[in-house]
Amino acid sequence: MTESAKFVLGDKNAELQLRHGTIGPDVVDIAALYKNTGLFTYDPGFTSTASCESKITYIDGDEGVLLHRGYSIDQLAERGDFLETCYLLLYGELPTASEKEDFVYRVTRHTMVHEQMSRFYTGFRRDAHPMAVMVGSVGALSAFYHDSTDITDPHQRMVASIRMIAKTPTLAAMAYKYHVGQPFVYPRNDLTYAENFLHMCFAVPCEPYHINPTLAKAMDRIFILHADHEQNASTSTVRLAGSSGANPFACIAAGIACLWGPAHGGANEAALNMLGEIGTKDRIPEFIARAKDKNDPFRLMGFGHRVYKNYDPRAKIMQQTCHEVLDELGIKDDPLLEVAMELEHIALHDDYFIEKKLYPNVDFYSGITLKALGFPTEMFTVLFAVARTVGWIAQWNEMIEDPQQRIGRPRQLYTGAPRRDYLAIDQRA
Ligand code: CMC
Repeated sequence: MTESAKFVLGDKNAELQLRHGTIGPDVVDIAALYKNTGLFTYDPGFTSTASCESKITYIDGDEGVLLHRGYSIDQLAERGDFLETCYLLLYGELPTASEKEDFVYRVTRHTMVHEQMSRFYTGFRRDAHPMAVMVGSVGALSAFYHDSTDITDPHQRMVASIRMIAKTPTLAAMAYKYHVGQPFVYPRNDLTYAENFLHMCFAVPCEPYHINPTLAKAMDRIFILHADHEQNASTSTVRLAGSSGANPFACIAAGIACLWGPAHGGANEAALNMLGEIGTKDRIPEFIARAKDKNDPFRLMGFGHRVYKNYDPRAKIMQQTCHEVLDELGIKDDPLLEVAMELEHIALHDDYFIEKKLYPNVDFYSGITLKALGFPTEMFTVLFAVARTVGWIAQWNEMIEDPQQRIGRPRQLYTGAPRRDYLAIDQRA
């Protein structure tokens, strides 16, 4: 196979090197294009652009494959747990028993946040969206943990990584408690990561909180399924923010801000709101018609994916988890659930959705599951952020350690006014 591609346009030409991954498409390295031809490439949604080299996560959207460090998401979700997945994403290998024990110990011992953070929270309005609180509070960690913001020190980077994985659930639970007007609940070191999160969210000081193992397992699985997803919008945001040398807490706060949008992490909240808006099964055809209407901006939330054009492998596992939770809680005739199941059925059999390869994505089922677990819709994206923190931080570390790393600085196709002369105000039309 030729190892380079030739670019020719009139008298401009460039020899562009091909680069091979271990699996997946090869890439044409266009770094020399501008130097040799004076041309930029144009790819606004990055549909044909690999922004970096990475060893963490691999997705084959046509085949519905998602691998973390080579392990399939199905096996990790069925046989592993979230902290094991965190270790894998961060260090590249599954931990041995002693490595896992040490990692769990380190994460667990970092779950408390500086006590002054609780006063920071009270500055927010009670009706603030918990994602707004998360953007602020995670960013504020850099004001509390100065001893882990030197990105040139590998030890400090690892301390910041552990802190972030350990503290985002605490901050998320605090955002929830503040939102509902209940006292903050401190983390408990005898619980697993998922159990502790449910405890911090749902325990109250006046009575014991009993953790349901099926629900804790579902929570852990939701965390695993959302842990990383290669160069998605929020991860690319974290990498871009980090490329300037910004500290990791600030970079993760930038990732959370990006995740908030309804086309990305906000889709689980948007999906549930949409089910509520549809309300009853008989109104589904009306919404399906709207989704197909080119003149209507409405989209079926929780359907479609930029990369998965076959099915979303996370959605399959999430669907199963969703049913486990509903069975455990004895939820059978929830109207939203009825709408969801009917919508899923119609969309999977409708020509428009089949032709455009629009399948239910992970957020379609995670929204229903999180509602059943007792979370209000405003918390859904927050839970996504808790889970994705490890992916962001693993990708951030990889970027910092990459010798090729430079500040990310895309160029543009300028279509504004060409150069013109300044006119005095009385000469302007
Ligand atoms: N409902 C109806 N039509 C849709 C939908 C949808 N949910 N998604 C895409 N389409 C249509 C779209 O109108 C377009 O039609 P046409 O070719 O006639 O112009 C075609 O399908 C391709 O859509 P696109 O916007 O070019 O695709 P994209 O890759 O830019 O967008 C997406 C991907 C996920 C933003 C989009 O499918 C969408 O908005 N889905 C709803 C939001 C959602 O569920 N997002 C969560 C993604 S999974 C969680 C995560 O990883 O963040």
